Amino acid sequence: MPSEAKDQFVSAMESALAGLRERSQLRSCSQLEGINFCSNDYLGLAEDPRLKHAVLESVERAARIGGTGSRLLSGHDPAWNELEEEFATFAGTEAAVYFANGYAANLGLLSAVLDKDDLVFSDALNHASLIDGIRLSGARRVIYAHLDLSALEKVLRARENESCRKVIVTESVFSMDGDVADLSAIQGLALRYGASLVVDEAHATAVHGPSGAGIVADAGLTKEVLAVVHTCGKALASAGGFVCGSKVLRDFLINHARTLIFSTAMPAYFAEQIRAALQLAKTMNRERELLLENSRSLAAFLRADGWDLSGTASQVVPIIVGSNKDALAVAHFLRERGFAIRAIRPPTVPVGSARLRLSLTARISATELQRLRECLKAWQASRMALSSAAGGA
Ligand SMILES: Cc1ncc(COP(=O)(O)O)c(C=O)c1O
Repeated sequence: MPSEAKDQFVSAMESALAGLRERSQLRSCSQLEGINFCSNDYLGLAEDPRLKHAVLESVERAARIGGTGSRLLSGHDPAWNELEEEFATFAGTEAAVYFANGYAANLGLLSAVLDKDDLVFSDALNHASLIDGIRLSGARRVIYAHLDLSALEKVLRARENESCRKVIVTESVFSMDGDVADLSAIQGLALRYGASLVVDEAHATAVHGPSGAGIVADAGLTKEVLAVVHTCGKALASAGGFVCGSKVLRDFLINHARTLIFSTAMPAYFAEQIRAALQLAKTMNRERELLLENSRSLAAFLRADGWDLSGTASQVVPIIVGSNKDALAVAHFLRERGFAIRAIRPPTVPVGSARLRLSLTARISATELQRLRECLKAWQASRMALSSAAGGA
């Protein structure tokens, strides 16, 4: 007989799910067909036969396939140290340490480095993994308006006399808005007010900066910042995240980051997948240029058609629709016309800013972008027809 205690949890979950359904916020896992506008495989490497071949070769050579334990126990393989050195060279930092995913990298980094006496200045639109890492650390948190340098300066100035350690935490390319932080200006404020800087480059890794080394590298700040996080699950078509910084930071994380210490290592053959993806990505300047060129022209013509694209300046192009229902409706309209596009709703984005998040990849052609534009125009026309029919009724 089911226990009453368990029933309480089950009915609470059922009513939470019913609430989500009512607000058009219920999600499920499903695969979409069509021209893929919801993939973070920005360079198109996930389907590259050269990468597949490299993975097959490394599996073939591997003495073992399993992770077998934490890297601090049986799970370590020299392949990880070699890859970390290679990645640090790519990122322009002294050292790097690998985590099984970007979420674990941010959580491990922030919860290890910060403590409850520290003060963190966090961009209002930072990714959940940054927010959760800060929360877990127990540090005091000040949220500043998204990308607003004067708001950041105001809160830094207000806490100027506090003698504690201070850190500014920001993404470089923001995951849901596609806008880009002015890292030189943020680092300038950090210097002026005695703070250090942590930057999450998840959507810039292998896409922005010299040979894809990121926006911190592009701004010449690799030696200034406390830590840069690069992820491998997006443009590097693999999985994992590197925290890049000083050798001291690396040694500290190996000894304190709980998401590394208390988690099974990724199998060593997987290091070869990341290495192969990195080697390929470094050579893909032409693909990067084309991707960013396509992103700029998509943004220009959608803006000309009257769409609100927030402040996008990258391959992530959001179309802000507003209500959850409208975002679902336009996503459905486009899916029926052959596009794999998803509506992004709260809590991933702020309430009232539901959107389509278009992520462009090197596999999407200019002709497909034009087709998308035409379909979005058809949606606008159908909406206008509906509202004039309603007005006339
Ligand atoms: C800005 C940002 N940071 C970190 C992550 C987490 O990376 P991963 O998917 O590798 O866990 C994501 C992924 O969605 C992200 O968008």
